[in-house]
Amino acid sequence: MYICMCNPFTDKDLDKALKDEGVSNKTSQVYKACTGGEKPCCGTCICEINDRIEAHNSEALLMAAE
Ligand code: FES
Repeated sequence: MYICMCNPFTDKDLDKALKDEGVSNKTSQVYKACTGGEKPCCGTCICEINDRIEAHNSEALLMAAE
């Protein structure tokens, strides 16, 4: 599923970026990692990216607590 249409990348690209320890979980850094350094254009996808970052961080916290 495409997350961003302006600089196209998919949910799989986003998951890969979130799992990459070299990419911080800041929205701008994740976006750049998914697009090869591009900046967002319309911003429509930012909420979805933030939701996925939040879900990833919650999952990581749960894993660390176990
Ligand atoms: S859909 Fe991602 S910047 Fe426009």
